[in-house]
Amino acid sequence: MRFLELIATKRDGGRIPDDAWRPMMRAYAADEIPDYQMAALAMAIVLRGLDPAEIEGLTSAMLESGSRFSLGHLPMARVDKHSTGGLGDKVSLILAPLVAACGVAVPMMSGRALGHTGGTLDKLEAIPGFRTGLSIQEAEALLRRHGCAMLGQTTEIAPADRKLYALRGATATVEAIPLIAASIMSKKLAEDLTGLVLDVKTGAGAFLPRQEDALALARTMIDIGERRGCRTVALLTDMDAPLGEACGNALEVAESVAVLRGKGPADVREVTLALAAEMLVLGGVAPDLAAARTMATAALDDGRALARFRVIVEAQGGDPRVAEDPWGVLARAPITLTLTAPAAGIVQRVAPRAIGAAIIALGGGRSHTDEVIDPAVGVMVRARPGQSVAAGDTLLVVHAPDDQRGRAALEILAEAVPLGPAVPAPRPLISHRVTAGGVEELPAAPSH
Ligand code: URA
Repeated sequence: MRFLELIATKRDGGRIPDDAWRPMMRAYAADEIPDYQMAALAMAIVLRGLDPAEIEGLTSAMLESGSRFSLGHLPMARVDKHSTGGLGDKVSLILAPLVAACGVAVPMMSGRALGHTGGTLDKLEAIPGFRTGLSIQEAEALLRRHGCAMLGQTTEIAPADRKLYALRGATATVEAIPLIAASIMSKKLAEDLTGLVLDVKTGAGAFLPRQEDALALARTMIDIGERRGCRTVALLTDMDAPLGEACGNALEVAESVAVLRGKGPADVREVTLALAAEMLVLGGVAPDLAAARTMATAALDDGRALARFRVIVEAQGGDPRVAEDPWGVLARAPITLTLTAPAAGIVQRVAPRAIGAAIIALGGGRSHTDEVIDPAVGVMVRARPGQSVAAGDTLLVVHAPDDQRGRAALEILAEAVPLGPAVPAPRPLISHRVTAGGVEELPAAPSH
């Protein structure tokens, strides 16, 4: 079938034949299919969906468009975590060294900030000297030596996804469960993992804000992983407000170091420990989640996770002093401006998308994939939903490169923290655990 006929088939609600995906994605990666035609197919998929066999076909074709890690020789299991993204999500920086310190290898392949969401690669690159552009061979060597490598999607890994994801960003075709699931899993399966933990975000700051969509995405990704022998578990975690206090690259590195030192915001620590426990069970070093959590808590509190973080930063060219004295090495914005409460009240919401938009206005985020960002800028969130504040109390602190951009950010943030008379309904920080066996609703530990 010619590509034009495949577009028409999907437009009319038909199936793409199983044997069409591989040649299609190979041709797209080789620039033999123009972007305008692929964009038309992506939009037809957004509107018509894909069945499980089609999702499998697309995932395999994107995976096979590039190279893969070969990690079977490592003496330990390989487990990664993937977050569907949000604001203030610095968990990977803490989790990767923590899990590696407990004896499971972590090939942590991450992305960059895009739209209102932050990206782990940009956070890591806020550490002076830190190199995320590793080849597969370099990453394999780091995994052998230190049990961890933190890198970006190289040009070798799933190149068809790399092109398609950028195209989707420019054609309003990102928000489709089959496309998101195939995109994420094609990269994760290239890591030759024994297990994968997914942190699927729900709430206003998530790609898919509705809980039922987040659950459907989790189930779709688990299905893809398990079919290929990669044990996959998902936790649904709250992204209705930013995670932790720090939003912005250098600010988030400093907060990550605080958590690695046994301090930092409770929600960041809790999500990190819950994900770590899942990874340690999948990695076979703990018999159950309770034992795994005890193991992870000990590694966080006795300094082993921090020590491993230091080693990995140094091994990837970064300034290791960040582990002892973050603000001795991180770039600091020259100006801070404060958003204060206009009257007494109870914080109703802390709007993540407004904070993301403010960070872009400050130069710390991206609306296009190739924009250069300022690591020093960001927003510190000083109020949580449900908190009582008095008139004049600090709600947000903007870290700006100059007064003009700081004021522009404050304007964007003017409605970001609405106050009211009543306590808003608490939201669970971790609401569901999803496995191949089904969906488990977790006992409520509120995010505020
Ligand atoms: N992250 C990805 O890698 N791909 C998507 O489609 C969405 C989020």
